[in-house]
Amino acid sequence: MEEKLIIPNHVGIIMDGNGRWAVERGKTRTYGHKTAVSTLKDLCVHMVDVGVKYASLYAFSTENFKRDIKEVDFLMNLFIATFNKEFEFLKKKKVRIVFSGRREPLPEKVLKAMDKLVDETKDNKALVLNICLNYGSHAEIVDTTKKLCELYKDGKIELDDIDEELISKNLYQDLPPLDFVIRTSGELRLSNFMMYQASYAEFYFPKVYFPDFNNEEFDKAILEFNKRNRRFGGVK
Ligand code: IPE
Ligand code: IPE
Ligand code: MG
Repeated sequence: MEEKLIIPNHVGIIMDGNGRWAVERGKTRTYGHKTAVSTLKDLCVHMVDVGVKYASLYAFSTENFKRDIKEVDFLMNLFIATFNKEFEFLKKKKVRIVFSGRREPLPEKVLKAMDKLVDETKDNKALVLNICLNYGSHAEIVDTTKKLCELYKDGKIELDDIDEELISKNLYQDLPPLDFVIRTSGELRLSNFMMYQASYAEFYFPKVYFPDFNNEEFDKAILEFNKRNRRFGGVK
């Protein structure tokens, strides 16, 4: 990539279209999810190489539990295998992994694989990979509100301490705001992804399904980001 490009500090990726990608190839939807893992692995390395500092990945929404139990089970097992084995290389790449989402009702084995990965990568500094799993913005706002109420009840904060900074610090993860949100597959919606954090993000909706979102597609996205004029309410 060219030298002078601005690299967004925090990129969000709604990894959508795995099912359609597979069905178009005469395969089962689960084959699409499996392929998405290898796409994601390449993309993580690429994001480290181009200098992205934070990446939030939408892996499973709170609403995705509505899917057929077989697909949900497949995804849970895929998460376990991915976190326990496929992501081994991320440790060498100095990627730190954190998770956003509700632990309930994730299976114990998934939680164990998540906790292990978080612990093993906690000192890494190259890229923070925030995996949104059983994540929903609405649930996050509810959970953050409860957290603040507990702090208030325990006398740890006063009403006047509640400001944007305190709210931001008490979301699932204390991360900088999203600069750029990419949703693959051509759908033009957030589907409950990081609404609070995306308030001033730029949006990009490539038509390709996630399994085809290779490094070249990511570079195209960065070029598009560089064409945007971010004003943050000011005049420029
Ligand atoms: C995204 O791909 C992966 C998850 C939501 C887990 P989909 O499974 O939503 O694929 P499409 O959108 O049905 O093609
Ligand atoms: C959003 O995709 C969730 C993830 C990519 C993990 P969905 O496929 O679940 O979203 P909808 O149902 O099309 O809005
Ligand atoms: Mg989808």
